[in-house]
Amino acid sequence: MFGSGKRDSVSAGRDSSAAAPGGRRFGSALGFVLVAVGAAVGLGNVWKFPYLAGANGGAVFVLLYLFFLLAVALPILVAEVAIGRRGRASPPHALARQASEFGRASGFWHAAGAVGVWISLVIMSFYSVIGGWTIAFLVEAGSGFAAFADAAGALAHQRALENDPLGMLGLQLLFILATVAIVAAGVRSGIERSMRVMAPLMAVLLIIVVAFALFNGAGARALAWLFAADWAKLDGSVALAALGQAFFTLSVGIGGMMTYGAYLPEGASPLRTSLAVAAADTAVALLAGLAVFPIVFAHGLDPAAGPALIFITLPMAFHAMPGGALVGGAFFLFLLLAALTSAVALYEPFVAYRIERGMTRVKATILAAAVSWAIGLVTVASLSVARDVHPLGFLGGAFTQMTGFDLITLGIDKLILPLGALLIAWFAGRILAERAFTALFPDDPPPCVGLIRLALRSWVPLAILVLLVSGLMLG
Ligand code: TRP
Repeated sequence: MFGSGKRDSVSAGRDSSAAAPGGRRFGSALGFVLVAVGAAVGLGNVWKFPYLAGANGGAVFVLLYLFFLLAVALPILVAEVAIGRRGRASPPHALARQASEFGRASGFWHAAGAVGVWISLVIMSFYSVIGGWTIAFLVEAGSGFAAFADAAGALAHQRALENDPLGMLGLQLLFILATVAIVAAGVRSGIERSMRVMAPLMAVLLIIVVAFALFNGAGARALAWLFAADWAKLDGSVALAALGQAFFTLSVGIGGMMTYGAYLPEGASPLRTSLAVAAADTAVALLAGLAVFPIVFAHGLDPAAGPALIFITLPMAFHAMPGGALVGGAFFLFLLLAALTSAVALYEPFVAYRIERGMTRVKATILAAAVSWAIGLVTVASLSVARDVHPLGFLGGAFTQMTGFDLITLGIDKLILPLGALLIAWFAGRILAERAFTALFPDDPPPCVGLIRLALRSWVPLAILVLLVSGLMLG
């Protein structure tokens, strides 16, 4: 029904080899949790969350983000993992197959899944550019952030980075190659195995940075700024930004977690594993806030510096503080690893899809890399030579200031992820029959499962619709 018959060789139990697409599984529930936490924890937690919180007034954004995470994004995460677990295939096939099982048009759902697969590569296109930057800053740590002695030096450093598009492309390529090396090695022997090493390392690095920031920085001011809300700052645009970030940080809305869900071992609960993933991701975002803002405030820096917050502002603080080279090195190494483990999850849906259509894993990974690298030219250009080009400027309003990079990141946060999440809620709440849904959670308390299903059928789609409309129209 959907192309070649290869993917129909679905069978359980076998691992990894490209010839057995339906047989890929993680080794254990813990393996799944580690890998999914790796997908969730990334630049979104450490780069995007602090700068969005800074740009959107601090605590109002943070509290809304936490609320949406729990009430809206978490049910979507459970739904994605469950759909993947039941479909046992990449998003286009998992969705199409189950849609036709329940008498719906499989063509539409196949297309929706395919759009998600491609959007993953669009995300990777800018993700890999920023990921490349973290490599450059790791190198700066070696010199004790010597270029960041004052604001002028920090700005000059950033300009130098931005005025060197070829250098940026080189760093991006390095980051992409590291991702390729992991994904091409396979689900178990590449993705799961590397995460078993990187996850503990990341935990240690983050704890070092947070402890240092709290002992040496303005912890109390940072806490007040993160959690004492001035609700007058609330508007539709802030709310939609918080919702978009809740989706982005959990990696939901485009089928990434669905793909990992397809590899969930038999017997592992999609509910409990999702809860663990969301809890870990939230903890890391808050810890990242507690690492970044005490340092920002202690050094009199501007929390609303935007996307440059951790690349211009923070290194100045690392330069000024005793032991800054080490703490800064730990910080940027953490960031690099976090970005890498998310990047892996941005390629895997595409790779899984291509494998099911008969390509080898290695070829599919290289194709994903080439596509995301090429789309990345837009980001590289809009951060460098095309900094003053505003492609949709003719529309007026906020568009007159937006670069191609802004359009991609904002379009994904405020439009694509909410729409994707809406489709997922519809699928899990209305297309999957109730019995099929609950059968996925045999060992979980029925009231919890019922609550998730109720959420997916009622307030989740409602909240997304209301926020989409109010954020886009009024915001
Ligand atoms: N959650 C990741 C982060 O916070 C980014 C991300 C968004 C992602 N969507 C994804 C990663 C899909 C993998 C798959 O950095």
